[in-house]
Amino acid sequence: MTSSEPSPHAARYPAGALAFPHRDLLGIGQLERHEILFLLDEAEQWVALNRQRSKHVDALAGLTIINAFFENSTRTLLSFEIAGKRLGADVVNMHAAQSSVKKGETLIDTAITLNAMRADAIVIRHGSSGATGLIADKVDCPVLNAGDGQHEHPTQALLDALALRHALRERGEAADDFTGQTIVICGDILHSRVARSNLLCLQALGASVRLCAPPALMPVGIEAMGAEVFHDFDAALDGADVVMMLRLQSERMSGQFIPSAREYHHLYGLTKIRLAKAKTDTLVMHPGPMNRGVEIDSDVADMIDRSIITRQVEMGVAIRMSCLDVLTRRARGVEGWGDAA
Ligand code: NCD
Repeated sequence: MTSSEPSPHAARYPAGALAFPHRDLLGIGQLERHEILFLLDEAEQWVALNRQRSKHVDALAGLTIINAFFENSTRTLLSFEIAGKRLGADVVNMHAAQSSVKKGETLIDTAITLNAMRADAIVIRHGSSGATGLIADKVDCPVLNAGDGQHEHPTQALLDALALRHALRERGEAADDFTGQTIVICGDILHSRVARSNLLCLQALGASVRLCAPPALMPVGIEAMGAEVFHDFDAALDGADVVMMLRLQSERMSGQFIPSAREYHHLYGLTKIRLAKAKTDTLVMHPGPMNRGVEIDSDVADMIDRSIITRQVEMGVAIRMSCLDVLTRRARGVEGWGDAA
């Protein structure tokens, strides 16, 4: 299948650009359920391509994608780079540590500079919530949020949904959406953009979401977003279909949020004994990077039949290919998506 052919589930959303009417991907909060499904369905062709020996198409040939990362990253940066290259684009990575940002250049000046170089898509990770939105206002091309502070990390939530869909389908469950699934997200919810984007995405796809954290790491009033709040991990796990573990985001903490890593592990670490309190086939997820022995034990993270953590990484490339392909269709003049810019 090429990127201009309709998605396999085209009947469930409008055709052409109406299936995804946004110029940028700044957060899951901006998306309708059918727009999320569209990006997931479009990713399926890239999952298939990525499993072949030859993984290259020329859909984005001639386009320049700039990955501007103002925060550290392994998985996200690498997978955006691989995604752009497999689609045939020229990909350039800008690391803040080596850029003029260190010389005091403002975010807006950096954005204007990237724009003047005529990027066709800009992927941004930044430590401040809302930074990607600020840049999107200043540039002429699509902007993809690769994580902004504690706000959102939309491609992570999309890849998590794709990984879960694949795992459920392999078990013979109809995983068109996640209606009937109870999903626990446990860890440093307060500082996590992954928790926020996943809460929005999983709920949009029909799941019941339980958030679990010590009181100091749970945002006040989060119940208003429709999640069930737990401070007792064992209670949260009771009857759960999926448990997603999150790292303690120490780099965002000012002051002491937990007594010690040892005590945190005792109360909130996912051990084999604790996992046994959920269902016999509960799936385990983690966006990485993992702190083994703190929020998750190695013998749980590496469980072949239960952990889908490496599957999440695999799906990361396909989802980012899907997002880059869809967001550049208008500029490429793909039929039904408007005139080439
Ligand atoms: C997450 C992030 O950067 O927000 N990681 C990732 O993108 N794979 C989660 C984290 O850093 O803990």
